[in-house]
Amino acid sequence: MSPTDVLISEAAIRTRVVEIGRQIERDYAGQELLLVGILKGAAMFMMDLIRVVDLPLAIDFMAVSSYGAATESSGVVRILKDLDSAIGGRHVLLIEDIVDSGLTIAYVLDMLRRRGPASLKVAALLVKERAAGAGLRTDYVGFTIGNEFVVGYGLDLNEHYRNLPYIGFLPAP
Ligand code: IMP
Ligand code: MG
Repeated sequence: MSPTDVLISEAAIRTRVVEIGRQIERDYAGQELLLVGILKGAAMFMMDLIRVVDLPLAIDFMAVSSYGAATESSGVVRILKDLDSAIGGRHVLLIEDIVDSGLTIAYVLDMLRRRGPASLKVAALLVKERAAGAGLRTDYVGFTIGNEFVVGYGLDLNEHYRNLPYIGFLPAP
């Protein structure tokens, strides 16, 4: 028996990642891209995404913490690991696993914007309804979902379930 109920299947994720990749190829044609993944949750999405983007690109990572071990955003974002590369004058695409309250992405965007990138956009695999309602701009969205807590495909609950190949809910105990 699976530990979670499937919300978005492996096949559906794969199809959508390819679509987003095609869109990125069109939008950034002729440009060099720097993809910035937010660790650890976005790692799986980012690795699948870069394999379907046929453009010259570089990757980098940031680690931030907004939750600790809780399942609700605290509003306090700590930078645990900053970028290795300078982003001034570059086309930066931030890769996030999920936008919930939007606090994490708003904080990171603000910080990166002050470094003077040529452009700065966001690709999120998942956006929760409450963030969509909060008017936060997300340039590429895999799926809009309800406000329930989800795990898998990089997303965790206290570091568990990141390796599930699909997105699921934890079943009620
Ligand atoms: P926000 O700051 O409320 O938008 O939260 C964003 C971060 O919280 C994401 O990068 C995830 O690491 C984590 N997060 C938010 N919702 C979920 C969820 O449903 N499952 C797992 N992690 C989540
Ligand atoms: Mg997390």
